[in-house]
Amino acid sequence: MNHLLLYCRPGFEKECAAEIRELCEQQGIYGYCKLEENTGYALFISHQPDGASLAVEQLDFHDLVFTRQWIACLPILDEVDTNDRIASLIGYVTELPECNELWVEPSDTTEGREMQRFCNSFGSAFSQTLRKQGMLPRKAANRLHIFALSGSRFYIGFAPVANSAPWPMGIMRLKFPHQAPSRSTLKLEEAWHWFIPQKQWHQFISSGKRAVDLGAAPGGWTWQLVNQNMFVTAIDNGPMAESLMETGQVTHLTEDAFTYQPYKSFDWMVCDIVDKPTRVIRLMTRWLVEGWCRETVFNLKLPMKQRYPEVKGCLEYLHNELNAAGLKARVAAKHLYHDREEITVHVRVLDRN
Ligand SMILES: C[S@@+](CC[C@H](N)C(=O)[O-])C[C@H]1O[C@@H](n2cnc3c(N)ncnc32)[C@H](O)[C@@H]1O
Repeated sequence: MNHLLLYCRPGFEKECAAEIRELCEQQGIYGYCKLEENTGYALFISHQPDGASLAVEQLDFHDLVFTRQWIACLPILDEVDTNDRIASLIGYVTELPECNELWVEPSDTTEGREMQRFCNSFGSAFSQTLRKQGMLPRKAANRLHIFALSGSRFYIGFAPVANSAPWPMGIMRLKFPHQAPSRSTLKLEEAWHWFIPQKQWHQFISSGKRAVDLGAAPGGWTWQLVNQNMFVTAIDNGPMAESLMETGQVTHLTEDAFTYQPYKSFDWMVCDIVDKPTRVIRLMTRWLVEGWCRETVFNLKLPMKQRYPEVKGCLEYLHNELNAAGLKARVAAKHLYHDREEITVHVRVLDRN
């Protein structure tokens, strides 16, 4: 298969395309991208007949910042017979590797959301037919995807279960915790789910840890830290929610996060300050290099233009500085579902020389 379909937040198709081309090139997979702005997807078409299959096998899905989901797929199937879509599509399933389940998904756009009910009912009918024919063996390592552009235009393809997003449309849906003082709270919760496997939570996100929240007010992120029974120093000139202060787990300092220096190191530092990405990345790097925290989640606000080069530049700066300081760290970045004009970065220091 030489088509690779990438789902993304509408408006970020260019970043998604630039990133996949670069990562594929690094693996010797060459091709070009096709995209239309605000459609919520981009297409990479490899010059090699098996370029897309190779990409989902050789690249690590976690390395993609702007892609929510990817599928190696056949060229678009246009004008599918709407009287019997299943009969029209079932033959194509045999051209794909064995898959264990089927997801029929729309794009994350207004038109896409209007197709959600159709996708659900078509997906369940098609799955039943495939199961009856033994075409969705449960132990298969891939998932079958149908990306529906309309009732008659589809991409059909597959994604390796172990190397793709485990949520339909690549979207992690979280329930807003009503006690939290701001919707921003979901960004930190999603970041933890994305960057830290659940089985490691008890080790890394646990009771008694000390955390600092830079740019904390009104306290959505602090709420997540408190909810994990951490003790939090909240830095912000703005007011923190009373309910958080009443827990006795929060110390509020009305200081400038860019000049504040801790007298003792923290387990966690989180930062949701809206400022120039180059300024924020320098601050984050300083915290890590000085040893003021062991682990961090922070946001980098994106500029209006040149978003991909800006992200790359910031991450390169971080890597270079950590290397120069002899720090071994795990760095990962993602444009999360709850992020808008920003990306989220996670860094865990593994070793200090
Ligand atoms: C997007 S809000 C943070 C929302 C917060 N994470 C939440 O979940 O409620 C950004 C905050 O950063 C604070 N801020 C901006 N510049 C700052 C600085 N230099 N020092 C401390 N706080 C700053 C602002 O006052 C604002 O409250």
